[in-house]
Amino acid sequence: MSKNIILTGDRPTGKLHLGHYVGSLRERVKIQESNNYDEMYIMIADAQALTDNADNPNKIRENIIEVALDYLSVGLNPDKVTIFIQSQVPELTELTFFYMNLVTVSRLERNPTVKSEIKLRDFNTSIPVGFMTYPISQAADITAFKANIVPVGEDQLPMIEQTREIVRSFNNTYKKEVLVEPKAVLPDNEVCLRLPGTDGKAKMSKSLGNCIYLSDKTEDVKKKVMSMYTDPDHIKIDDPGKIEGNCVFTYLDAFCTDEHFTKYLSEYKNLDELKAHYQKGGLGDVKIKKFLFNVIEEVLNPIRENRKMYENKIEEVYNILEEGCIKAKEKASTTLKEVKEAMRINYFEDKELIKSHIEKYKN
Ligand code: TRP
Repeated sequence: MSKNIILTGDRPTGKLHLGHYVGSLRERVKIQESNNYDEMYIMIADAQALTDNADNPNKIRENIIEVALDYLSVGLNPDKVTIFIQSQVPELTELTFFYMNLVTVSRLERNPTVKSEIKLRDFNTSIPVGFMTYPISQAADITAFKANIVPVGEDQLPMIEQTREIVRSFNNTYKKEVLVEPKAVLPDNEVCLRLPGTDGKAKMSKSLGNCIYLSDKTEDVKKKVMSMYTDPDHIKIDDPGKIEGNCVFTYLDAFCTDEHFTKYLSEYKNLDELKAHYQKGGLGDVKIKKFLFNVIEEVLNPIRENRKMYENKIEEVYNILEEGCIKAKEKASTTLKEVKEAMRINYFEDKELIKSHIEKYKN
């Protein structure tokens, strides 16, 4: 039977937030707890982060520990998963270089996520080559581990598609089933695909200042929730309110359960009842925001406690990362060996090659 190997990761450009949590972190912990996998790798994608931060390596350097602390705090268990840093596994760079021959420039230019990132960053015509080609490096990340399952957010689907193409092209070109086609795993709850920012904008993003971070303090969470974007036309309590595009309800869709109602808002049985009342009119924003605050705090409290514990043992966190890098390197180098063999660039391993050349030049 084929193995279930999971690989995923995040760029260390900032602390992780609730969007990361519902979009992917929660899924990873669920898989970990299910024990229904053979190997799981979680990568801190510093090399990818550098593709548009070449001039700011300190930002990446400082955020590696933040992301590692976030991973451990949400419950990723280093005894069950390998957490590692991308740049410390040079095999990934080597694979990237070889895969580059299997991808056309126009294919890269069609990648919708890269396209929108280019717009967002105002690169115009000065796009770094490394940035343009990061989908290829992402294919290397995934295939180096022979991962078949990649739990990611929706914006990563084009990367997985491109990886699948590279895998097919490689196996076809070199006539050997060396690489494995991965499958993306998205959260089943649709609102979790893209959690909006607290200002109602499409996405949580550090530069927009609309994120709730996993490491935010209670007071900050309270402030952010109480000033969240709701329905701008819901002015008086008696006015009927809109649910669509109303952040508080989107977040409740992502986080709240019927038990939360029993605990914090027992006048309602569930979210449907709360929504109906809001739509009819007579339910104020402050009340729903206070409820959401309680729900989010229930999610964040255990994460905060774990974080505090790990913050007191930073050395141990560094050991976890270092051991993770060693393990990841081992796995990636096995794949690289197979890749080189398939590509016929294993000159010194192939004794037949030397023999045939001795034969060829015999006088
Ligand atoms: N592109 C991902 C992000 O922006 C990070 C990443 C790099 C990744 N390599 C990966 C995710 C491989 C999944 C698989 O967060």
